[in-house]
Amino acid sequence: MYILGVWDGHDAGAALIDDENIIYAANEERFTKRKLEVSFPHNAIAAALRYAGLKPSSIDHVAYTTTELTKTLERIYPPMKETYYKFRRRKEPKPWNERFRHNLKYSLTSVGILPLCGTISSAYIRRQLKKDGFTHSYKLHIVEHHTAHAATAAFTSGMKDQLVITLDGLGDGLSGSVSTMENGRLERKVAIRARDSLGILYEQVTNLLGMRELEDEGKIMAMADYSYPFDFEDNKLKGFFKVVGTTMHATYGPLRQYTELDKIAWQTPREQTAYMAQQLLEVEMAKFVSNAIDRYGIGNVAFAGGIFSNVKANMHIRNLDALKKWYIFPHMGDGGIALGAALYANYLKTSRNSNDLSVYRGDSYNRDDIRKAAEADRALTIEEDGAKEQGRHAAELIEDDNYILWFQGRMEYGPRALGNRSILAKSESAAVKDRLNMYVKKREWFQPFAPSMLEEDAPRILKYDDKGRSAYMTMAYDTKDETRDMLRSVTHVDGTARPQTVSGENAAYMDLLKNVKRGTCYGVVLNTSFNIHGKPIVMTPADAIEMMLTTKTKYMFMDGYFITNRKGV
Ligand SMILES: [Fe+2]
Repeated sequence: MYILGVWDGHDAGAALIDDENIIYAANEERFTKRKLEVSFPHNAIAAALRYAGLKPSSIDHVAYTTTELTKTLERIYPPMKETYYKFRRRKEPKPWNERFRHNLKYSLTSVGILPLCGTISSAYIRRQLKKDGFTHSYKLHIVEHHTAHAATAAFTSGMKDQLVITLDGLGDGLSGSVSTMENGRLERKVAIRARDSLGILYEQVTNLLGMRELEDEGKIMAMADYSYPFDFEDNKLKGFFKVVGTTMHATYGPLRQYTELDKIAWQTPREQTAYMAQQLLEVEMAKFVSNAIDRYGIGNVAFAGGIFSNVKANMHIRNLDALKKWYIFPHMGDGGIALGAALYANYLKTSRNSNDLSVYRGDSYNRDDIRKAAEADRALTIEEDGAKEQGRHAAELIEDDNYILWFQGRMEYGPRALGNRSILAKSESAAVKDRLNMYVKKREWFQPFAPSMLEEDAPRILKYDDKGRSAYMTMAYDTKDETRDMLRSVTHVDGTARPQTVSGENAAYMDLLKNVKRGTCYGVVLNTSFNIHGKPIVMTPADAIEMMLTTKTKYMFMDGYFITNRKGV
């Protein structure tokens, strides 16, 4: 039995599973080259079927998610979401009716699923799938938004009895949930209304600081580091939000909240406003999680939802004494809910509640594809550099202060490059970090990079603990004083880092890190995603070559080939 998961909103995507395996998962942005694509994932669906060698008629079940009023309106009238997408990403000038749009968005926030929304949405999904060749009869499942988030965390965490907590901006009228999973049954215990959303508050601060909501929230977290610290007692946003037990309460509705935040942001330096929002998030999230653990007496907690991309807030949660084990689903935002919908439909059908997760679930390419892409430009030379040699060779180049492009095997699912579509450099070189920021990534100066390190070295480098594995860059850790110099290009200014710990799951990457370790005693490198800022991570060899040429990068390792660019600098 095959189940196709579909998500057609912010960071649209598709996932294909059978009774036992996650076969394929990817987001539409990688195909259309528009970051966080919102259009129906026709390309991702076609790629999933192609990967598995299936025809649409082999799919018996399709699961999709989110039928709230605004989502349904967007399905009835798709230009609505396209306009918002372009505006939100600053691709078009501010429209004259922006204030009206803004007010409408937040007025509709609390409206969840109304009668008929499901029927209208399902008709739309069927119509779109028909264009993809789904003309046979199949069962269509609707999975509620936070249930889809919860399913991603609960069913891939590997923990038996667990608490499952979701928090995001909003979806289907909610901004969060607490569920328990005991004796194999996932059961929702608490639902947080969309009106009381920590995610919306953080999103509004992002917007007020001149950045793109739903995309630049990580920059607020990074910017907060540049404020002088102050006590929570002195935080002007303190009164905006309250956690009592396992309830959350926003003092103001979203519209009034925006106005009140605006007054504060207007009179406060940017980094301090960012600090206030970040501190509020950390304090209130930790309180909420702590109360939930107390209430249900379960210390193993799995998390999903966009808010859990905030690695600093996650660190506060990890530091709770009551928390025994943590797991954060690596594609925690809405980009992951196509898989969540499929996993939940499978759980209902087969009771399967535990799935092996590998993030390497996208496309891979053969030697012909690579050769063809590399031969497209005369500035490039392509040499065989066998799988065994490339780790040693790449480590030598990194050691010599070069950054390299590292393209291997199947593409990662999720926002982070985890060693298959990565740019790698020395972890201790501030110079190479600046070069990467200025010429390749073109990011704001205050955005930090992150390290990948051998799992065995993590306790030597970081103040690591055994509460969870940091295999997907979802958690911040304090670094040890003695290793800080070695991590100059991959730590935040407060001395924390967001590591990817690498083990046998990615053998080629592990080999590279072992070679780095031979020269430096520590298997650690800077790892940033293989893209230019604002663009999605590259997917195909042709995408990779194009970026190599536009950024004038010298070296690339691609599935056993070594490619050099004569025009590289
Ligand atoms: Fe969400």
